[in-house]
Amino acid sequence: MKIVFATNNKHKLDEVKKIVAGKIEIVSLEEIGCHDDIAETATTLEGNALLKANYIKNKFGLDCFADDTGLEVAALNNAPGVYSARYAGIAHDSEGNMKKLLSELNDKDNRKARFRTVIALVTKDETKLFEGIVHGEIGREKKGENGFGYDPVFIPEGYTQTFAELGDHIKNNISHRAEAVRKLNDYLSTL
Ligand code: IMP
Repeated sequence: MKIVFATNNKHKLDEVKKIVAGKIEIVSLEEIGCHDDIAETATTLEGNALLKANYIKNKFGLDCFADDTGLEVAALNNAPGVYSARYAGIAHDSEGNMKKLLSELNDKDNRKARFRTVIALVTKDETKLFEGIVHGEIGREKKGENGFGYDPVFIPEGYTQTFAELGDHIKNNISHRAEAVRKLNDYLSTL
């Protein structure tokens, strides 16, 4: 089975390919010649994931899935959530985003947070959503070199190190995206 993953994020593409590990052939936007910047204008993760998957389905006529992820921090009323990518103002400025997050939580004892991923699958027959969540907390400082985004400040439940310290192998076993991709994979395997 061949399916487009509507992302330009190479880290995500690699993560998802490792999780699916050959069961489904994942095709990138680059491979289908799509260089469009699909604006994420929805106000929910579900909305953005659907928007991206539908865009590819409508323009290229290919089965497609897209994800959207947010970091939901309890002491900040679940912010930055759907606005995680541009929390500090500029899109995908991970350093700025983490700096702002650590500063907002500076005087907070409640460090609880979760990553939530929503995957939207859009095929010629149907539209379906899959969700994955990993609970954890925000550390007091950045630690580790692996991963991307907020990984250096996120310590998953049951561990003492950040995702960026734990590395791909552990992250891909327990992450929000891993859970959502496994659900997608299980579903596609039944077709
Ligand atoms: P999006 O799904 O690419 O829109 O992600 C929104 C924001 O969350 C971006 O700033 C990403 O860097 C961040 N993000 C998404 N997935 C992860 C992850 O697995 N670890 C750390 N940050 C992530």
